[in-house]
Amino acid sequence: MEAILAARNIDPTTVVDAAPSPEPVTALELAAARIPRRYRDALAGHADVSAWVEEIATAGRPGPGGAPGIAHGPSLLIAGPTGTGKTYQAYGAVRSLLGAGVRLRWEAVTTAELHATLRPRQGHDGERRFQELARSPLLLLDDLGAAKSSEWTEELTYRLIDHRYVHELPTLITTNLPIPDLRTAIGDRVASRLAEMTRRVILDGPDRRRSTVTGLHSD
Ligand SMILES: Nc1ncnc2c1ncn2[C@@H]1O[C@H](COP(=O)(O)OP(=O)(O)O)[C@@H](O)[C@H]1O
Ligand SMILES: [Mg+2]
Repeated sequence: MEAILAARNIDPTTVVDAAPSPEPVTALELAAARIPRRYRDALAGHADVSAWVEEIATAGRPGPGGAPGIAHGPSLLIAGPTGTGKTYQAYGAVRSLLGAGVRLRWEAVTTAELHATLRPRQGHDGERRFQELARSPLLLLDDLGAAKSSEWTEELTYRLIDHRYVHELPTLITTNLPIPDLRTAIGDRVASRLAEMTRRVILDGPDRRRSTVTGLHSD
């Protein structure tokens, strides 16, 4: 054995170092670390969601490394009752874009978190986080209209959506409000912008959370 290794000019003590280096970490793997555990394997299985992914992926301009980066494009509004898989489809879409090699910075926030993090309080610069979310090339705004609204939350949502609207930044929005109720919940100015900027997907069916627990549902 030693002779063979010597003949091939291989020092057995360094064989381990010479082993092939591990596969490079992909954007998808890196992103997985930021995707909540429950949605880490989510797939954008809905036809309209994957069509949107395709549209955004092809609109991306090649970045410095040759891979397409997120550009501008339509947003996606995923509506439907609780537990129909809205958040699942939304993270599925983020994962598909990453899997397609699109280089993207993305942010995800629920409306409740948004309100909690940005509520003005001493010694805390909510504006910085707001700008991060508003300017992110891809934003997932989960559960729009679910949190209790006030003049302040309505203004915050308006500023966020208006920024995404004027700059045509792709935004994934989920809501469990029926579309006609959305206007009342989030205000006319936001609803009007969403009407123009979003493609819509309506999910229905049973609450997947309860079907799993009770075992009444068998698909
Ligand atoms: N297509 C799917 N395949 C497998 N599990 C799913 C699918 N869609 C949703 N789920 C699961 O069902 C549960 C509810 O989905 P979720 O996206 O959180 O619902 P919603 O956001 O509409 O309230 C979650 O545990 C999610 O992982
Ligand atoms: Mg959800």
